[in-house]
Formats: sequence, C-alpha cells, structure tokens
Amino acid sequence: MTVSTTQEHIPHNPEGHEIKPRLVTFNITEKSPQYWFDNDPFKTHFFNAFFTTFPAGESFFVRSVAKYRHLIKDEKLQQEINDFSSQEGNHSHAHDLHADVLIKNGYKSIKRDNKILDVALHGLNKVMPRFSLAVTIAIEHFTAILSHQVYISPELFIEPVHEDYEPMFRWHAAEEIEHKGVAFDAYQVVDGSVIQRNIAMGITTVAIIMLIFIRIFPLLRKDGLAFDGPTWKGGLSFMFGKQGLFTLVLDHYKEFYRSDFHPWDVQDYDLITDFRKDFDDGTFEKNIPVPG
Ligand SMILES: [Fe+2]
Ligand SMILES: [Fe+2]
Repeated sequence: MTVSTTQEHIPHNPEGHEIKPRLVTFNITEKSPQYWFDNDPFKTHFFNAFFTTFPAGESFFVRSVAKYRHLIKDEKLQQEINDFSSQEGNHSHAHDLHADVLIKNGYKSIKRDNKILDVALHGLNKVMPRFSLAVTIAIEHFTAILSHQVYISPELFIEPVHEDYEPMFRWHAAEEIEHKGVAFDAYQVVDGSVIQRNIAMGITTVAIIMLIFIRIFPLLRKDGLAFDGPTWKGGLSFMFGKQGLFTLVLDHYKEFYRSDFHPWDVQDYDLITDFRKDFDDGTFEKNIPVPG
C-alpha cells in the first residue's frame, strides 16, 4: 500500500483513469451452491448478509450525492457522478437478483431486513442530508478498502469463491476502486467538514459490524447453525483473526481519519488493469458460466 505524505488536500485521480459502467449478467441461480464461499456456511452468509445490503445501501449513496449535485460546477466531477450513479445502479440490480435467489431458497429474513434498511436510509436522507453524504463517503471508503484487499489477496478472497459468484466479486470490487473518489470529491465541494466525516465513519463502523451480525444470525438459524460453536469460531476468525478480512484492512481503514485524507492517496488503480483489459476484450464475460 502506497500512502502519500502530502499535507495539502489534492484530489488526484490516477493517470488514464476512467469510470466505466458495465452492465453484466451473472449466473447466480437457485442451482448455485448453497455455500459458495470456501464451502463454508459462515463465510458464505457473511457475504450474503453484506452483499444484500447493497440494493438499499447503493441507492442511498446515489440519493445522497444527487441531493447536492447542483452545487457542483466542475463538469468532470458532474460526469463522474453520472458514471458513479450508473455503476451503483448496476451493482444494486445485481445484488437484488442475488437476494431474490436467497429468498427463493428460503432465506426470508433478507426481504424483511432490506425493507427496514431501505426505510431507515430514506429517513436519514430526508432528516440529515449532509450527514447522509458523510456516511456515504465513509461507506465508500469501506467498499474501496475491502475491494483493494480482495485484489491484493486473491488466494483469500477470490480463489475460494465458486465460479457462479466469482465474476460478480471481481466486477463489483473493480468498479468500487474505479469510483472510490467521486462521493468524496463531491463532499469536499459541498461541505468538507473533517469532524463530520470522522463522526460519520465512527458511527458507520459500529453500525456496519452490528448490521452484519444482525443479518447473519437468521441466515445461520435457517440452516440450524445459529448456535453452532465451530461455525462461529471459524467465522469470527475469518473476520477478526490474524488473516481476517477486517484485520487485514485495518491500516488502510485508519487512513480515513487523517485530516488531509483523499481516497486516491492509495494509488491502487493498477490492481484492476487485468479486469479492465479482460472486460474490454470480452474475456471476462466469456468466462461467466452459462446459466444452467
Ligand atoms: Fe457498488
Ligand atoms: Fe461504491
């Protein structure tokens, strides 16, 4: 991880950077394996719980930015907001389809939990629009650092994924890296308060961790594993152990609290060079398994 030590705030998209919305159809169906991540119930339900918050979450990000886009005069940033919104719309749609598969397979809690989340986030937009934008950049930092980790540790976070889900993993993570600076740059124009964004990050961090547990529990309960010791032991180690996802991203996460932080201080655009190339020459979509 390369971190700039510059003291002044300089938004700096990488050279040749583009945000390209890519509409992709995946092969995630009721026939896909139940435990599609490492053949493991907890790890799979961790990602099921996390990914299925995206339809409500990503619509919230788009609304939060759209609320203030009339204040943004820079044409390049306006275009980036369009592309960011299109990408998030596509992600939201893909994870909605993923959620539908889970609901059809009997994981009914997803439907109820998503409804509650959607109502709560609409309320937050309405009552606290500026804070909603700060929450958006906090969560965009989360998605950017997790995506970064997916790409630098493929043996931990890509190779264990079943082929039906793997393309969605790589696609979403790549596009999160691509657009990681957009909401932040909009926030800098609209508000820019460091205190507000740090408070938003503190609250969001606690909320995300709580939400994941609240959402995992009913998924495990449906499988008869809600109180299974070894399942939880392995799951907690996957999240917080030495090679745990949250442990590995901790240093990158903390960067956000620096007063001169900018998402592109970590120049990781080159991590997705192969993905971009594969997509552009058709290899990526050709390798998505045919629905069966
Ligand atoms: Fe996304
Ligand atoms: Fe995003």
